[in-house]
Amino acid sequence: MTVTPRKIEADIYDRLSRVIDPELGRSVTDLGMIAAIHADPAVAPDAYDVTVQVELTVEGCPLSETITNQINGAVASYPDATLTPHIEVTSMSRDKLADLVADLKAERKQNPFTKPGVKTRIFAIASGKGGVGKSSVTANLAATFAALGYDTAAIDADIYGFSLPKLFGVRTQPTNLNGMLMPVTAWGVKLISIGMFAGADRAILWRGPRLQRSLEQFLSDVWWGEPDVLLLDLAPGTGDMAISVAQALPNAELVVVTTPQPSASDVAVRSGLVALQVPMKVRGVVENMSWYEHKGEKLRIFGEGGGRRVSEQLTDALGYEVPLMAQLPLEPELRETGEAGRPAVLDKDGALRTDGIGREFRTLAERLMGV
Ligand SMILES: Nc1ncnc2c1ncn2[C@@H]1O[C@H](COP(=O)(O)OP(=O)(O)O)[C@@H](O)[C@H]1O
Ligand SMILES: [Mg+2]
Repeated sequence: MTVTPRKIEADIYDRLSRVIDPELGRSVTDLGMIAAIHADPAVAPDAYDVTVQVELTVEGCPLSETITNQINGAVASYPDATLTPHIEVTSMSRDKLADLVADLKAERKQNPFTKPGVKTRIFAIASGKGGVGKSSVTANLAATFAALGYDTAAIDADIYGFSLPKLFGVRTQPTNLNGMLMPVTAWGVKLISIGMFAGADRAILWRGPRLQRSLEQFLSDVWWGEPDVLLLDLAPGTGDMAISVAQALPNAELVVVTTPQPSASDVAVRSGLVALQVPMKVRGVVENMSWYEHKGEKLRIFGEGGGRRVSEQLTDALGYEVPLMAQLPLEPELRETGEAGRPAVLDKDGALRTDGIGREFRTLAERLMGV
């Protein structure tokens, strides 16, 4: 066998180019995280000690173990010699980190979702009033998309009534890399919410014409990569929020959530009529709390017809089909798991439930994606 220490070092560098930083979605070599690789002959023939110096972007980065394990694996599984990995972990110098973030930002420019050719489907979840289950629908839908294998992100755009951190059980803060924020991943979904910030960070996000500004910051200051699906939990109501969304995200499609009774559906129609003022497509209507199953019978506790009325009235007003896409049951478990920090569509292991609400949300997700 003709391996030399130099050849091993070059090969290991090449193998490390396939180790991906889970937050930034780039290889550790691209990110400049591999500061040095040294191969030194050990006692046994064809055996080498390989030292890899890794510079993480931030010290104590929560994913450092994932990265070092993968680097270890890439060294130990080398086929042409017996290598013993020694991983030395430090963090990048401030200057190096500043350069890296500047490079990433320059490449990504402002808001990544308006770049031509971006494939992300964006669904903005709206309702006329609060309490109809808009956040619960957003959270469960996001968890469903992620469980189905879509790279999924969600923005809690309801900055006054944020609830996604609680629904996903998130208690950590987003990592802040020199002003670029990493979304927090929970139950497979990349999430950002003003509820994750405290102190000065929150003050910055609340600045200015608030809704507009915070949405723009969430779009441009957070490292999203290029998700397949982005969901927005909009503030309830009929006005400003949807207009901001249409301006910042021209590809966004509105999904209107209502409950069956007229008091909810009347205002839900108005939240969809915003599409007459701004160029935004209304994708469809979701009726929540439609029925409760009791001894095999579907009880319509909140009456019926809300979803159908919203669908018909928006179809009339907008001149294209705005379908009723789902009628979701009232499920006490949905509230209970939500309070416990797990979307109800997932079982304890994070797999999509194949029964009940899991199946309803899967159908909704597939209809939204048109599959
Ligand atoms: N389908 C449902 N079955 C049972 N409880 C629900 C359902 N949808 C929502 N809830 C509960 O209703 C309350 C309001 O829901 P939430 O998602 O916070 O509404 P919104 O975001 O529209 O204000 C929460 O306690 C939630 O757990
Ligand atoms: Mg809400």
